[in-house]
Amino acid sequence: MSFDLSVFSNKNIILAVTGGIAAYKSAILVRRLKDCGFNVRVVMTQGAQAFITPLTFQALSGNPVHTELLDTEAEAGMGHIELARWADLVLVAPASCDSIAKFACGLADDLLSTLYLATKAPVWIAPAMNQQMWAAKATQRNLSSLVEDGVHVIMPEAGSQACGDVGLGRMPEPEDLAEQVREYFHKAQRAIAEKFGLLAGKKVTITAGPTREAIDPVRYISNHSTGKMGFAIAAACYSAGAEVTLIAGPVSLDTPNGVKRLNVSSARQMLDLSMNQLETGCDVFIATAAVADYRVAEVAEHKIKKAGDELAVSLVKNPDIVATIALQDKRPFMVGFAAETRNVEEYAAGKLVAKKLDMIACNDVSRVDIGFASDENAMTVFFAEQYEMEKRDLEKASKQEIAQQLVEAIHDALHQEKRPV
Ligand code: C5P
Repeated sequence: MSFDLSVFSNKNIILAVTGGIAAYKSAILVRRLKDCGFNVRVVMTQGAQAFITPLTFQALSGNPVHTELLDTEAEAGMGHIELARWADLVLVAPASCDSIAKFACGLADDLLSTLYLATKAPVWIAPAMNQQMWAAKATQRNLSSLVEDGVHVIMPEAGSQACGDVGLGRMPEPEDLAEQVREYFHKAQRAIAEKFGLLAGKKVTITAGPTREAIDPVRYISNHSTGKMGFAIAAACYSAGAEVTLIAGPVSLDTPNGVKRLNVSSARQMLDLSMNQLETGCDVFIATAAVADYRVAEVAEHKIKKAGDELAVSLVKNPDIVATIALQDKRPFMVGFAAETRNVEEYAAGKLVAKKLDMIACNDVSRVDIGFASDENAMTVFFAEQYEMEKRDLEKASKQEIAQQLVEAIHDALHQEKRPV
């Protein structure tokens, strides 16, 4: 099972627009919902069409707009029952007094009120109206009924209104509404992943990116690692239900959704934080970081000044993070990476044994089409000999797809019966 938490291309939203000046904000709301990856279909009441045209919503949503209940053409396309079934969420924004009253009474005399009764999907309403109409006893009574019926009410905001009044009744900004919808689906998907995902309940630590080893206060030794592979693996592990900590060297990448990120600079900082993870609990340790093999023996306190034609800097070996963790008493399942330019499989198999890893993923970085800065990768995965598992070739694919396949490989190894305790 795979879960993509960053986009919601399999989620369908009906945005119902009713008559009110805030309808202009709904046009932007369609855009923001589409930005999150949702499929959006717009239903408009007659009142809404006095404020904004169906054509605007058709162009923005990329779908025909639904306005009629008893229209043979509309019913031949997607009728009201089909529409009601299609929705994963019905968002009424803006929701007028009239639509709220209809929902509360169970009327079914137009497309939206009928859809409201016919759908099993959650219904959210974002009331927007004049502050006096909002405060009216009938409106508040109807809203209470809707809340009792399980409708989620997004409270209007206070401020100056189009009619000149000041008070409660403004529809929240489209960005806020879209964020609330995204958050809702995100939480729902997360709950499923935590229960059924391949790494449900597992604590995973991932090192990623390069390390920087200071020479003096302004210079350092580092490498070209971008951290993309490690970040993609962090996202895939989170999507598979794991609790993920990403220990990242200096990279310019956004933290994947739901992932706890700890920034470090040097190899020794990366090791310290990795060791801390063992204290707080770690089931799987994935070392994707391109750790600098050496650091400067003595970091200069001040900027080194130009002098002479040569400068000798003495280097000392950095600790091997993955090998150090693998030697600990309560060692997690250890996954290493090997980036090689020749004899790829032979060197990787050697590292698997030397670093006491459970699994190693290796790739050929001499190929310009994969590896370091590329968005794609191809790998071969080897398992330690106590795992009776075949080596696996992960064919060239996006780093996201490779990450997903690695999650599957880790899951399979964790569930192998012969796994040593
Ligand atoms: O020895 P080499 O650097 O090729 O090994 C690569 C693997 O070891 C990677 O998983 C890398 O993250 C890890 N490593 C480490 N600490 C080091 C060097 C490498 O954790 N100092």
